[in-house]
Parts: sequence; structure tokens; C-alpha cells
Amino acid sequence: MKFHVETDRLILREWREEDAPGLLKLNSNPEVIKYLHMEPMKNMEEALKDVKWVTDQYPKNKIGRWIMLEKSTGEFVGWTGLKLEDMEMNGQQNFYDVGYRMLPEFWGKGYATESAIASVKYGFEEMKLAKINAAAHCENLASRRVLQKAGFKELNTFPIFDFQAYWFEITKEEYFSK
Ligand SMILES: CC(C)(COP(=O)(O)OP(=O)(O)OC[C@H]1O[C@@H](n2cnc3c(N)ncnc32)[C@H](O)[C@@H]1OP(=O)(O)O)[C@@H](O)C(=O)NCCC(=O)NCCS
Repeated sequence: MKFHVETDRLILREWREEDAPGLLKLNSNPEVIKYLHMEPMKNMEEALKDVKWVTDQYPKNKIGRWIMLEKSTGEFVGWTGLKLEDMEMNGQQNFYDVGYRMLPEFWGKGYATESAIASVKYGFEEMKLAKINAAAHCENLASRRVLQKAGFKELNTFPIFDFQAYWFEITKEEYFSK
């Protein structure tokens, strides 16, 4: 399944095997995974396994995360987009989650916000979803700010793994009334 979404500065498309080196660079960087409950990625085999995991979700769920490329250079920035989340979080399961993860050299340019806004638009306008959620480690202030700028409201905090996270939501009524 293919996706192609463009924002002012980004191209968002389906994951491909050719993205494995970028994904390895991303997921092996301790700064990137600081607020994520994961071990650093070790090799290309793990990156390719991730590509398969994500691309398997596309036909099943009609959605999955997208690769983020910089439009002006074609460079791999990271990933973004919607996922049908089957892990229970904040007492909810099978909700549509917005997420993003970028290489540090692309931080601070507004790309995460631009991609989150495009993901929310796709969820409500193309997929006709009723609501979209997101979660972020309470100390991940950049992610919290991205979600606020993308129109999410912060509902509560909840325990997950060994930390507290913020729980975010935006409904279709809120989106279309903006
Ligand atoms: C989270 C992440 C995507 C944000 O990327 P980014 O390039 O900084 O995002 P943006 O530029 O779109 O917006 C960041 C906003 O947070 C603000 N911000 C950044 N660091 C901050 C901090 N430490 N404290 C408070 N605000 C902060 C920025 O000022 C900006 O807000 P503004 O436009 O109002 O000034 C990036 O840091 C990342 O990839 N982190 C690793 C993966 C990750 O944590 N993903 C999210 C999991 S929930």
C-alpha cells in the first residue's frame, strides 16, 4: 500500500526497505530514544524487521506510520503519522495515535508540528475518524508542545512503563470547528 502526502516542506510516504539505514541511525541514537521505552536499535536486521512490522499494518488497518522526507533535499528526516494502537494506554485500546520521531539535525524547524497537523488532517478528512489520541512522556516538553500546536487537548496524565505520560485527544467536532 502506498501513501503520498505533501506539506509545505515535507513528503510523507509509506515505509520502504530502502529506509532501513535511516531508521537504524534514528533508533540507535540515545538522544532520540531518551523519552521512549526502548533499547537502542543494533543492526540493519532490526531495522528491516521494523519496516515489515509497519508495512504489514497498512493493508490490515488501512493506515500506519509514514516516512518523513525533506522536500527540498529528499533527505530522510524520520517518521510520523497515524497508527491503530493495539497496546492498552490510559485504559484505552485500538485508538488512532499520532506519533513522530526525527533525527536531531532536523529538530527545531517545525517539521514535527507540520507532520502532526498533516496526520490529523488525513485522519479526519480522508479516514473520517471520530477522534485521534496521542501520548507523550511528561518530561518530553517538545513533543507536548507539538501536540498542543497540532490542536490536541491535554486530558490527564497516566502511568506507563516506569514513567508518567500525558494523554492527548482531538475530536472531529473540535477539528472541523476550528
Ligand atoms: C519530539 C520531536 C519530534 C520534536 O521535534 P521539533 O523539531 O523540536 O518539533 P517542532 O520544531 O515542530 O516544535 C517543537 C516545539 O517545542 C518547543 N520545545 C522544544 N524543546 C522544548 C523544551 N525542552 N521545553 C519546552 N519547549 C520545547 C519548541 O520551542 C517548539 O515550540 P514553539 O514552536 O512554540 O517554539 C523531536 O524532539 C524528536 O524527534 N524527539 C525524539 C523522538 C520523540 O520523543 N518523539 C515523540 C514521542 S511522544
